Amino acid sequence: MNTIEIIHKKRDGQSLSKEEIEYLIQGYTNGSIPDYQIAAWAMAICFQGMNPQETANLTMAMVQSGDQIDLSAIKGIKVDKHSTGGVGDTTTLILGPLVAAAGVPVAKMSGRGLGHTGGTIDKLESIEGFSTELTTEEFLALVNEKKLAVGGQTANLTPADKKLYALRDVTATVESIPLIASSVMSKKIATGADAIVLDVKTGDGAFMKEEEDAIKLAKAMVEIGQLVGRNTIAVISDMSQPLGHAVGNALEVIEAIDTLKGVGPADLTELTLVLGSQMLLLAGRCQTVEEARALLEQCIEDGSALEKLKEMIQGQHGNPAQIDHPELLPQAREQIAVLAEEDGFIQQIEAEEIGLCAMKLGAGRETKDDQIDHAVGVVVHKKVGDAVKKGEPIATLHVNRVEEVPEVTKRLLQAVKINNQPVTPPKLIRCIVT
Ligand code: URA
Ligand code: CA
Repeated sequence: MNTIEIIHKKRDGQSLSKEEIEYLIQGYTNGSIPDYQIAAWAMAICFQGMNPQETANLTMAMVQSGDQIDLSAIKGIKVDKHSTGGVGDTTTLILGPLVAAAGVPVAKMSGRGLGHTGGTIDKLESIEGFSTELTTEEFLALVNEKKLAVGGQTANLTPADKKLYALRDVTATVESIPLIASSVMSKKIATGADAIVLDVKTGDGAFMKEEEDAIKLAKAMVEIGQLVGRNTIAVISDMSQPLGHAVGNALEVIEAIDTLKGVGPADLTELTLVLGSQMLLLAGRCQTVEEARALLEQCIEDGSALEKLKEMIQGQHGNPAQIDHPELLPQAREQIAVLAEEDGFIQQIEAEEIGLCAMKLGAGRETKDDQIDHAVGVVVHKKVGDAVKKGEPIATLHVNRVEEVPEVTKRLLQAVKINNQPVTPPKLIRCIVT
């Protein structure tokens, strides 16, 4: 096979065979095909696109470029959830215990965060002693016994995607639906999911700012799932403001505990119930959305979901007493209120900027070797559409590095826009793509 001919074919808008795609991905992974040829090919894909079968073949070629996690030792259908990235998105911390309490095994592989959002592991490490360093055997045994475990990604997963994503980042080829869809799906398939629920975010704080583009991406991912035999559905949800109120690691653990107790923020609770219901359907645990939702609500009401979180923490060497007594979680030295400068209605809360404020206080990493401060972050008390009075607290900063406060306060006040006219809040759940 000839690399130049394959690039040529894609440049001219022809579709590539499975063998041609595998040839490129294998050659790129083992170093026999150089960056510049793959960069040219990625740019050709940006212009010419890929049909669903090509996209599915690219996905599987990337899956096969590295290790694949074998979850067959776990009984039942393993459903995974993936979010395309939000600010203060605490859903994984809530969904794991909630879905496990409803009887569906959750084998969660998570990562640490880079940039303005902490990863699920960072959040869980707010809990004293909690460890994701499990052997594969320990991980599988925990899921079989307790229906829930969170593992770190230690295996060599989708190296082709890692290389390709880094190359796309510096060649202006990130924004291509087939390239994004195959990148996301390859990682989920390599971690062993039988079925996948995707939370595709749209709005200012999301990767896909326009709803139309989010739906296109969702359709491409659902199609890949169908073509490779992993049942996939996507929920399109709003990310034009942070989810819930808290952005920060221990602060989000507290928010997750509240939600599992049934007293969490309305938007976070709703999104969790919608995503969780879809997980129960794909797992074959329930036949209708109504039945699934009722079962999840029952697991919150009877305390079994919160109990499941404690079981998981205990199983992974953490201190479950911190769940009953969240005041034992890391606490920042100072809490500083940010006060509204005028009367009106909240028009916008720039999600990404709030995430960056939390990072500035130490809740996120600027480089991958940075230490995270689990205690710090931002709690935003308002939602888009809420009325606000001058002098009223719109947010609280949880701070250890007081020298950051003047700048963060200024940025936060700019990120929360106040209008003198009433504002209609954005719709949280836009649609479901199946
Ligand atoms: N996230 C991914 O994992 N891959 C992409 O290509 C874009 C966003
Ligand atoms: Ca949150």
